[in-house]
Amino acid sequence: MRRAIYPGSFDPVTNGHLDIIRRGCKLFDEIIIGVLINPEKTPFFSVEERCEILRAVVTDIDRGGCSLTVESFEGLLVQYAADREAHAIVRGIRAISDYEYELQMALMNRRLQPQLETVFMMPAEAYSYVSSRLVKEVFHLGGTIEGLVPKLVEERMRSKGKV
Ligand code: PNS
Repeated sequence: MRRAIYPGSFDPVTNGHLDIIRRGCKLFDEIIIGVLINPEKTPFFSVEERCEILRAVVTDIDRGGCSLTVESFEGLLVQYAADREAHAIVRGIRAISDYEYELQMALMNRRLQPQLETVFMMPAEAYSYVSSRLVKEVFHLGGTIEGLVPKLVEERMRSKGKV
């Protein structure tokens, strides 16, 4: 039984995140999508909203035999992974620019919890430029985010209106 944690802010979840989850399902029996509770950031969606949206959109994923759950977490990721008896952390890497930050986190996490592995996965090229930050920026400025995020996210962003 190989269990992984896929941690992140998911504010909002993008099609790139879903692509990583789909690919992760080929490697793991169980993936827990962990939404970080970060009191220092003012998010677009609350943690509860992000979890609710994620739960709705992962139902469309072809997951094979992989079990997918969504929950929030706070504090150290390695502690959360240990509490859930996870074997690995999954992170998506889009470009070299992601690598430095991800390497730093992976090595710090390895120092804190040597038996926990970080698995980097690459999303489809079509999503290589898609980030939650850019999605929000384009949305706020009135551009289209169609195809970058699940339809539900588009609807929920529209219903919140422009900030
Ligand atoms: O989607 P993000 O915002 O890039 O995800 C970042 C995340 C949640 C993976 C990272 O901030 C994290 O692990 N936070 C938990 C606190 C922690 O363990 N910090 C030390 C990381 S080396």
